Order: sequence, then C-alpha cells, then structure tokens
Amino acid sequence: MDEQIVDTILERHNEQPSALIGILLDVQEEFHYLPKEALTTITDRLNIPLSRAYCLATFFKAFSLVPRGKHIIRVCMGTACHVRGGLKILEKLERDLKVKTGGTTEDLQFSLDAVNCLGCCGLAPVVTADDDIYGKVASTKTPKILKKYSK
Ligand code: FES
Repeated sequence: MDEQIVDTILERHNEQPSALIGILLDVQEEFHYLPKEALTTITDRLNIPLSRAYCLATFFKAFSLVPRGKHIIRVCMGTACHVRGGLKILEKLERDLKVKTGGTTEDLQFSLDAVNCLGCCGLAPVVTADDDIYGKVASTKTPKILKKYSK
C-alpha cells in the first residue's frame, strides 16, 4: 500500500474525524478495497479508535476489506431480470471471468456480484459495469461488455 496516497487523502479532508466516511470512500476508490494498514494509519492520524473504521467498513456495502477488481460487474437478480435470464447471464460471466459470484479475478481487473433490483426493470435483464448500465443483455454479449473494460 502506498502511504503517500493515504497521506494525500487525509490532507484533502483536513484530517477531520468527521470526514471519516469520505476518507474511506476515497481510499476504497484508490485501492478498490480498504487495506488494513490504511485503516490503521487513518485512525491513528485522526486519533479515533480503529473499531470505528471497521464498523463503517463492514456496515456499508460500498466498502470492502478484501481486494476487489478495478471494475465491478453486477448482474441484477431481481424478479424481472431473473425471469428474463439473469441467472444465465450471471453463469456466463462466471465462465467468462473464471470467477464465482462475489469473487475477483486473479489480475484484480474484475469483481462479479449478483445484486437485487437495480430499479430499471423495463431494461431487464440488466448488467452494470462500474457506473454504466446495460439493458436487455443477451448472454452472448457478455464478452463484448467485458472487453470495453479490459486493460
Ligand atoms: S429486476 Fe432487474 S432492474 Fe429491476
């Protein structure tokens, strides 16, 4: 872990304990997870208990304590998407990425998640890649989606 990056993030938030969530979000965005060393550095510098950072890290889904991929692929498993083949798409992505749902590829490029309704059921079945939404996805199209995010 690059301590310099954590320093920069802390300075950006004026080392304010009240900015802890924002600091953790920035660290998550930078490293794609919350490294233990980063949490220790942050809580030491903010003079707050390490447990406070862990409480937030485990409460909010935006945070991960284990390394995650640079790109997060989510497959909607809500009712509308499930009925229209969401599971088939999820299984195809597991094969494409050679990773189980909830897992991260060895090269740390992708994490694959199954999620509940994304709120755009008219587009079912829905897949998201980072902040991009793909609707009416056919399982044959998953390699094309992944290719857009490959290094
Ligand atoms: S069920 Fe998939 S977007 Fe609503």
